[in-house]
Amino acid sequence: MSDDIVADRPSRRIVLGVGGGIAAYKVADLLRKLVELGHDVTVVPTAAALRFVGEPTWAALSHRPVRTDVFTDAHEVPHVQLGRDAELVVVAPATADLIARAAHGMADDLLTNTLLTARCPVLFAPAMHTEMWEHAATAANVATLRSRGVTVLEPAIGRLTGSDTGRGRLPEPADIAAIAELLLHRPDATPPDLVGRRIVVTAGGTREALDPVRFLGNRSSGRQGFAIAMVAAARGAHVTLLAANVELPPPPGADVIRIGSAEQLREATHQAVKDADAVVMAAAVADFRPAAVVGHKIKKGDEDPAPVALVRNPDILAELVSARERNHSGPAVIVGFAAETGDDDSDVLSYGRAKLARKGCDLLVVNAVGEDKAFGRPDNAAVILGADGFESHIPLGPKTVLAAAVCDAVISLLHG
Ligand code: CTP
Repeated sequence: MSDDIVADRPSRRIVLGVGGGIAAYKVADLLRKLVELGHDVTVVPTAAALRFVGEPTWAALSHRPVRTDVFTDAHEVPHVQLGRDAELVVVAPATADLIARAAHGMADDLLTNTLLTARCPVLFAPAMHTEMWEHAATAANVATLRSRGVTVLEPAIGRLTGSDTGRGRLPEPADIAAIAELLLHRPDATPPDLVGRRIVVTAGGTREALDPVRFLGNRSSGRQGFAIAMVAAARGAHVTLLAANVELPPPPGADVIRIGSAEQLREATHQAVKDADAVVMAAAVADFRPAAVVGHKIKKGDEDPAPVALVRNPDILAELVSARERNHSGPAVIVGFAAETGDDDSDVLSYGRAKLARKGCDLLVVNAVGEDKAFGRPDNAAVILGADGFESHIPLGPKTVLAAAVCDAVISLLHG
């Protein structure tokens, strides 16, 4: 979720703890993002982190002094002050060693001291080799931290330091920054209340082929669906993310299946929801597709172009609702999205209420689009409507904040 930089938010005090792993170099980018968001960021690297990225880099990017041990500027008692003052502590890369020291309450450098004195939300973004992440010792330490309310993101899957590939890459700096923003807005936004739940999220916009190189598409960037997948995963859900033409990297903890057309999305959705507790249809699905796909690139020629005949696409959301009614099985919670512009006849919310009734889903997230609202932007405002009369207004803010509100509404229906 790059470019999630919005300058007009209030400045907050963040401690950025940097662990001694090669991914420390990516954390320079995370630091830059947090500073561009307007925050006061104090970087506390471990001694090992400074062997990967030196003190001048952290000092220059944060515009603040950088300390590693508890003896520098001891008169300011930094090992207590930093933690007490912080509104958020972010640890990245959280190495196996750092996770172990934090889980066991060690206090052998300034960062671990700060973790013991902080009473604010704490976010760990791990990075290590797959074997180290999967080791029983690390798994137990992560579970300990999570049980204490620390948000520990799942590492990303991909190329590791050597020639190997697997789970263990640092989550994207933009994603870490997005979860950090969420925790600053809502310190309680990532409790482990979706552990053991399976959630399917669709995101992006479908493309309907006209010929091998052209398509009918829409402007959905997939950011809102990706944010929902990321927050649901951070809350412990097993997330399958069906991404229609989204250029974003996989959010931490979500299994991403990339698809193209409405028909492909339909198939993938019906397959994925088989054992799901909830499905969130955030994708913008094309209502129509060309009646015929020309097998070769359509040439300009000398004639006026022939009109393109369209046929109706299946309504996947409506199909999910009717399959559940018919079979008495399927996801307990079905969530639709409605991107509305309003017009002379009706406003955005009235269209939303009518759509909720028409589609028959359990929740409908209604947002206003057009005039640079919502599409491709990091911020969103919406109203979440429930078939049971529930109504929650989420003011303009990061897409992760709306994502957390959607997760809240899903959970209360799963419990209810
Ligand atoms: N949707 C779907 N299949 C379609 C079209 C839409 O599953 N063929 C889902 C979307 O993912 C979204 C919801 O239905 O969750 C509402 O989409 P929207 O395009 O707003 O609804 P439409 O029924 O197409 O209504 P409109 O006439 O306003 O376009």
